[in-house]
Amino acid sequence: MKLVGIVGSNAEFSYNRLLLQFIAKHFKKLVDVEVLDIKDVPMFNQSDDQTDSEVIQLLNSKIVEADGVIIATPEYNHSIPSALQSVLEWLSFNIHPLDGKPVMIVGASYDVQGSSRSQLHLRQVLDAPGINAVVMPGNEFLLGEVQQAFDEDNNLKDQQTTQFLESCLKQFIRFINVVNVLQSPDGMKDVSDTEDLYATGSIDTTIEGVDKSADDWVEQASDKTQAVEGDTYVKLDRGILTVDQINHFLNSMPAELTYADSNNQFLYYNRKFGAEDMLAPRRPEQVGSPLAECHPERVYSGVSWVIQQLRNGKEDVVRTHVPTHGPDKFVVHSYQAIRDQGDQYIGINEYVQDIQPIIDWYLEQTGQQLTGGGVDAVSGATTKVDTVSGATVKDS
Ligand SMILES: Cc1cc2nc3c(=O)[nH]c(=O)nc-3n(C[C@H](O)[C@H](O)[C@H](O)COP(=O)(O)O)c2cc1C
Repeated sequence: MKLVGIVGSNAEFSYNRLLLQFIAKHFKKLVDVEVLDIKDVPMFNQSDDQTDSEVIQLLNSKIVEADGVIIATPEYNHSIPSALQSVLEWLSFNIHPLDGKPVMIVGASYDVQGSSRSQLHLRQVLDAPGINAVVMPGNEFLLGEVQQAFDEDNNLKDQQTTQFLESCLKQFIRFINVVNVLQSPDGMKDVSDTEDLYATGSIDTTIEGVDKSADDWVEQASDKTQAVEGDTYVKLDRGILTVDQINHFLNSMPAELTYADSNNQFLYYNRKFGAEDMLAPRRPEQVGSPLAECHPERVYSGVSWVIQQLRNGKEDVVRTHVPTHGPDKFVVHSYQAIRDQGDQYIGINEYVQDIQPIIDWYLEQTGQQLTGGGVDAVSGATTKVDTVSGATVKDS
């Protein structure tokens, strides 16, 4: 995901620039952030239109091409600096690159509550009809007392603050995805016709001449292809296993795995339990069926949407939490795109896991506790956990 980070200060040295540079460096596996400066942007003047100048056109094109924008604003006299206001005036005069663009606001300043008031003002400005940005609600990341916040390598010193920043960024990624769906030509309309869920087509690996809906599709299809089984060796990349070993190996995975090909045909699941003991029940006779026969019609649109994200390369993985398993489990369905060596989409690996035991193990190993969000919604102060005692303590 490609983001641009706009430094809201025109100063030679800026803590807000440091903050964006830290985000770009520290979270590069999560997002690709290009930091843009406003130092050379002239003061807005309605009588002297400089929209076509190189510096404003560069900002314009970078914003248009980005999936989202992070604006890091300082606080001057409880508001945003005039330099940032001026840039936003250029970007709402003859050009409107922020129109409909997902925006996340962050800010750094000297005060404890620093940038909270400028962030509020910035929200209002971005909401003006000439700008019309789509600003992420909540998730107010404010870095107060900024003169003490960075170490000598320009990294944020406080781990909890970095973790909260990460959670805000992850929230922004989700927000961008939701905004994209809302703004797509299809919007939230039924998109089930974008995918052939009845698998009426055929791809190179489709086993022809076998009824996909047959209960014994696996047996018929293996006869037809003379599929190997048992102790026959199969050469893989990289290794050799017998078919039995592959089965045992896949069944030992700590997740329920399902393979559906790019023709939307359900080809395989790692049958380690009966349907009644699975988090996402599958039955042996379903294998071979088109996906339409594995799901109720009311979810066709959602299934099609997920497949489209993966097929079109918009996402490599789409995740969803299914909260119907009670408070002791945290069940996540991950829809992972399977691509070949040429990066062509060849199907979905849906893996279903209860990640609660992993979370519990992690907390036990690191001596941390979940603090229910980690941030005081009123003051914005982060809640810390004393790593020795495990007790929660509040930042002032
Ligand atoms: C004119 C002026 C007004 C300021 N007003 C505030 C303020 O209202 N609240 C605050 O926390 N800091 C205020 N500051 C201090 C800024 O937080 C500080 O200059 C900060 O470094 C600006 O961000 P930057 O380093 O990214 O440019 C003010 C600074 C200036 C120059």
